[in-house]
Amino acid sequence: MWPLLRAGLHALQPETAHSVAIRSLGFVPRLFKPEQLGTKYTCMGLTFPNRIGLAAGFDKNGDHLNHLAKLGFGSIEIGTITPLPQQGSAMPRLFRLPTLNGLINRMGFNNLGVEHAARQLAQQDGIFQGILGCNIGCNRDTSEHEIINDYLICLRKLYGFADYFTINISSPNTPGLRGLQKPISLKNMLYELVNLREQLNSSHKYNAPLLVKVSPDLSDNDIKQMAAVIQDSGINGIIATNTTTVRTEEITSHPYGGQPGGISGSPLLAKADHSLAQWRKILPSEIALVGVGGIVTKNDAKNKFAAGADLVQIYTGLIYRGPTLIAECAEAAWEHEREQTAIAS
Ligand code: FNR
Repeated sequence: MWPLLRAGLHALQPETAHSVAIRSLGFVPRLFKPEQLGTKYTCMGLTFPNRIGLAAGFDKNGDHLNHLAKLGFGSIEIGTITPLPQQGSAMPRLFRLPTLNGLINRMGFNNLGVEHAARQLAQQDGIFQGILGCNIGCNRDTSEHEIINDYLICLRKLYGFADYFTINISSPNTPGLRGLQKPISLKNMLYELVNLREQLNSSHKYNAPLLVKVSPDLSDNDIKQMAAVIQDSGINGIIATNTTTVRTEEITSHPYGGQPGGISGSPLLAKADHSLAQWRKILPSEIALVGVGGIVTKNDAKNKFAAGADLVQIYTGLIYRGPTLIAECAEAAWEHEREQTAIAS
């Protein structure tokens, strides 16, 4: 069934296919409830019904939670959300690399802004019973000294509507954004965000975990320096990783390989896995790790758990493998847990 559907969808422009696929979910019955796909997992003070999540960028505005809820994800991360609505980069801005199970995107944080997202989340009727994350960022035209304020605006406005928040400082399509990963900028930024979280925590009476989403293009030394800042910051988790801008020969020899943007899917896997393992080596286990980047098979997911991921997320794999991949990743989690128990006993 999926190969046929996929052929139909991939005959369309990638962005058209994306919106057709999401809307079509309105006409199909629920495939899985989150609790059918594996066992519960607790980290950062949250209990996830399973360990498989939908990565940011798929539902930019929180418009499709009821449809996506049918797929069985344990968590869904919406966004990236910015304070003001923005159109993002000119089209076309999303390209398939089918022979590589990859994508190149330069979407540029196209989204309807924080007010829209807050309205959408306020209207949620509880159909999605998993953990909801909000991924937040800054507007493209925000001046350098106002950037942190954009994140504070989003956190303040959306607090109370999401279970956790992701501070996105790693998308390659917003000029200057990745500069926020530099230790001094990062320290200031995290100090302000954690401080605001404490204030919001006392007024809302709940403590939403804050995660930082990082680039796969950091060196081991960059990771070491960032980890030192993060350990002292009050941050609860790392999402490793966003897309890569590094072009290998397999990419450059592809017809769309010269398109500017971030690469996701299989061509990202090795880099994302390396990064995940580096973060796990340095950070204590209280800081959760979400492994994302290049999961297209059950084995890819299993390797992320083996490298220390508490949770995994997928995006590009869903485009090439369809919803079957979610159940396969859940199986990978289950097998990993069984192996860990066998080692321990
Ligand atoms: C993304 N990704 C992304 N990440 C993020 O933090 N905010 C965003 O708005 C987006 N937008 C976005 C759009 C598109 C079209 C793609 C393909 C990806 C990155 C995504 O969440 C994930 O980190 C990477 O795609 C790597 O995972 P996969 O796709 O290899 O499973």
